[in-house]
Amino acid sequence: MYHACFQCHGTPVVPYKKETTTVENLVTGTKLVFERVEYWGWPNNGAGRVDPDGSIGTCTACHTRHTFSIKQAREPWTCGQCHLGIDHPHIEIYEQSKHGNIWEAYGSEWNWTALPWKVGVHFNAPTCATCHMSTLADKDGKILVEGSHDLRKRLVWDQMHFFSYPKPKWPDHTQNAIMLGASQLTGKGLLEKKVAVEGYRIVLEELPKEGELSFPKVLRIEYYGELAERRNEMKKVCNLCHSRQWVDNYFLTFDQNMIDYNITAQYAYQLLQKAYEQGIHDPTNKLDEYMEIMWYYIWHHDGRRWRNGAAMMSPEYAFWLGIVDTVMDKLGRMTNYYETAVELLELKKKLEFAPPTTGTQPMIPPEIETKIKELEQRLASLESEVPVMKSAIDNIERIVSDTKQKVEEASTGISNLEKRSSELESSLNTLESKVAELSTKLEAIAKPTAIVLAIIAIVISVIIGIISLRRK
Ligand code: HEC
Ligand code: HEC
Ligand code: HEC
Ligand code: HEC
Ligand code: HEC
Repeated sequence: MYHACFQCHGTPVVPYKKETTTVENLVTGTKLVFERVEYWGWPNNGAGRVDPDGSIGTCTACHTRHTFSIKQAREPWTCGQCHLGIDHPHIEIYEQSKHGNIWEAYGSEWNWTALPWKVGVHFNAPTCATCHMSTLADKDGKILVEGSHDLRKRLVWDQMHFFSYPKPKWPDHTQNAIMLGASQLTGKGLLEKKVAVEGYRIVLEELPKEGELSFPKVLRIEYYGELAERRNEMKKVCNLCHSRQWVDNYFLTFDQNMIDYNITAQYAYQLLQKAYEQGIHDPTNKLDEYMEIMWYYIWHHDGRRWRNGAAMMSPEYAFWLGIVDTVMDKLGRMTNYYETAVELLELKKKLEFAPPTTGTQPMIPPEIETKIKELEQRLASLESEVPVMKSAIDNIERIVSDTKQKVEEASTGISNLEKRSSELESSLNTLESKVAELSTKLEAIAKPTAIVLAIIAIVISVIIGIISLRRK
């Protein structure tokens, strides 16, 4: 776990043992005796490290211990140690933005250590730190944007969970879930329990009058209260280098991306809920079946790339690796799978009402059998492209083959029974004829003769008995 999650996220650091130790100075030979504490979860430079005194976070995530360098903290790759990869590619997005282009071309000529950082004097394009943290000043040193180590101060949207919601009031989302009973994932209780920062409404943009040209808009987000302040903090940064219209319009389209993502994500999420209701998938393990895995990719990978790319100016991440992968690839696969599975379910339902057959005639009509095979193959080819631990296709296939087997068993059972009953019938017939034969014979023999014969039979059986006893 340390090298998987905690190296970026941080873990509690727990002191568990105190010991006395001696260290010798290799030059002077003097010995130093001191008490040392042993720690669990150490070393650990994760962003959310929980320290022994209860404080959260570590300066070392961005400032290494010995130099505690401001230059290093402002360098994008310092943040890129953790903010990278398919699920939060912030450094890649930055490198692909114009700002990143400029940093790559001219960064080496900038003054990275000046405090405060003067726009256009010390640097001429923003790094992660500029937009999210830095104290920024004009050429005379007048502070234009106050700096902050609170990374949420200039942020409005949480783009990392199922749906985009305003950032929570507390930095730790898990805390919201545990302490306040709100889910950052589904958004349940988030607004009702006032866990998220407040202050936005979605308004319908006035449509252009006839013959009038207008910026193509449908829905717009209006901010007030704390969210408006946060958005304004970020805009203040942009406005140091850009015009008001440039910045306002950029955020207008960014906000529209948040709305569009939410609509897409809701659609995908509801599709998965329908799959649960119809028994296509089993909700027990939420990450082992086809549509569940697609949904995971949508919110955790592609949908984040879409949103992050739109927020930080990477057309590649917003569009090809974002919108296209979310809508055309993952949602497309999800819909495809769902529709195929529903078709299969409906066929099976029809089969339940099919009349029972006898003899060698197959239970399932051949054209339906080929259709089922075709649908199964379609699901299988979809599944084969992703790692599915317990594939739904197995379930459906099993149900279909179970049903087939049961029908076969029943029909062979019936034919067995039929065979037996005909066997029984013939033996009954022979019995009947034998009984009839005997009764006619009996009738022919007179009663006294019958008694004499019976006595003789008894005597003979006694004699036979005696003989057989003697032999033994
Ligand atoms: C390379 C560094 C890195 C690793 C390794 C990593 N994460 Fe993350 N994780 C991040 C970053 C950065 C974010 C913030 C993403 C964003 O802002 O979009 C994040 C976000 C999250 C979130 C959402 C945060 C919240 O407050 O709700 C969760 C949960 C999470 N990670 C869990 C994990 C788990 C579990 C593992 C190990 C299996 C893991 N992470 C491994 C860097 C990492
Ligand atoms: C998320 C990365 C990050 C973390 C964690 C972090 N810093 Fe910083 N720090 C920065 C950046 C970036 C700057 C440069 C800010 C600027 O350009 O104005 C900076 C600047 C500073 C400065 C000089 C400028 C000022 O604002 O006074 C001090 C002092 C400082 N940090 C102390 C700390 C301490 C102490 C901690 C731990 C409690 C810490 N930092 C944790 C990124 C970080
Ligand atoms: C050691 C790893 C690490 C480094 C280095 C790091 N971060 Fe993070 N950062 C994280 C993790 C993990 C999270 C997610 C925390 C969570 O939500 O639980 C995060 C969250 C954030 C957030 C979102 C905060 C929120 O509450 O939603 C921003 C913005 C951010 N980091 C910016 C930066 C910047 C800018 C730098 C560089 C100056 C940086 N980070 C350096 C690991 C790191
Ligand atoms: C040009 C300014 C700018 C630069 C440069 C920039 N960001 Fe951002 N970042 C933004 C904006 C704008 C948002 C979204 C603000 C909002 O929510 O309203 C954002 C959002 C984020 C988030 C929140 C994502 C989430 O899932 O909730 C993280 C984390 C982040 N940035 C990290 C970084 C890192 C790391 C870098 C550098 C590699 C970086 N940013 C560079 C402007 C910038
Ligand atoms: C320190 C100055 C600076 C800051 C701060 C800054 N930018 Fe920029 N930005 C630039 C420069 C320089 C360019 C390239 C301009 C040119 O074409 O010469 C640029 C380009 C852009 C572009 C054009 C991208 C493209 O692909 O052509 C957009 C969009 C943009 N910035 C948005 C923003 C937003 C939004 C913010 C705030 C979140 C912001 N910028 C903050 C300096 C800045």
